[in-house]
Amino acid sequence: MRSGEIAGLNVTIPHKQAVVQELDAISPTAARLAAVNTIVPVAGALQGHNTDGLGFLKALDLAQIALPRARVVVLGAGGAARAVAFALAETGIEYLSIYNRSLNRAQELKEHVHATVGMSRLSAHSLSDDRSLRADLAEATLLVNTTSIGMYPKVDQTPLLSFDALHRGITVVDLIYNPGETVLIREARRRKIRAFNGLDMLIYQGLESLRLWLGEHSLSRNQRRFSLAELRQILNKALGVHDESLALSDRR
Ligand SMILES: NC(=O)c1ccc[n+]([C@@H]2O[C@H](COP(=O)([O-])OP(=O)(O)OC[C@H]3O[C@@H](n4cnc5c(N)ncnc54)[C@H](OP(=O)(O)O)[C@@H]3O)[C@@H](O)[C@H]2O)c1
Repeated sequence: MRSGEIAGLNVTIPHKQAVVQELDAISPTAARLAAVNTIVPVAGALQGHNTDGLGFLKALDLAQIALPRARVVVLGAGGAARAVAFALAETGIEYLSIYNRSLNRAQELKEHVHATVGMSRLSAHSLSDDRSLRADLAEATLLVNTTSIGMYPKVDQTPLLSFDALHRGITVVDLIYNPGETVLIREARRRKIRAFNGLDMLIYQGLESLRLWLGEHSLSRNQRRFSLAELRQILNKALGVHDESLALSDRR
């Protein structure tokens, strides 16, 4: 990239944090998240950005998920959880509870969001604290899995064991897009609960990355335009995912 041969890179799990130290500059958003998913070379210097939060919000918006009064349970406290937690806190939600295997990381994220955004309606718990999780799920309007549990190839795993704690009014979003249907999504949908995967977030964080690499002008001059449905199809094909019905903006 420094020699100008590569015009842009996306960075994914598990390198988003480690790559920060290799860069010359990072955007305020990426600095706050301490994670980079998009690298842009500018005159030989490497700039790091993070488009995950924007991609997540855009996907929620497409699915017509109203945030102002949302009570959200986030599973995980890694890079994706940080992007999701900050995006939600900055947009303004009613309450956010964070559950993670390593309690200290959940607490750190909670403190970080509180100190940076000023949101105080927050809590942090261990993922094994089933009692608190059930109580929070009973009140929640949105459950977001940001852990990698259930991601290919360990497709039979799930971050949530208490499926009976999910009520009909909640929406379940799993950031995992491969497989298209995780155990979490399958179990939620079996209970007639609205549940979607992370494919649309993937598409929209990618579009934001393209904007950073090519600029708005180059994007609008692009001759071949793809619909969201086509993009889902292309990505699912590339990933070997066959169920295209589970993207976030489907209205089921
Ligand atoms: N749809 C999209 O566009 C999009 C964008 C970003 C990420 N993602 C997906 O989000 C997931 C997480 O990515 P990331 O970058 O946040 O990864 P990460 O920084 O490595 O974080 C992984 C998270 O999963 C938890 N975890 C992993 N294995 C676990 C296990 N066996 N038991 C309990 N908890 C476990 C970790 O808990 P500890 O803190 O205890 O280790 C941590 O909270 C991946 O599946 C990724 O593909 C999707």
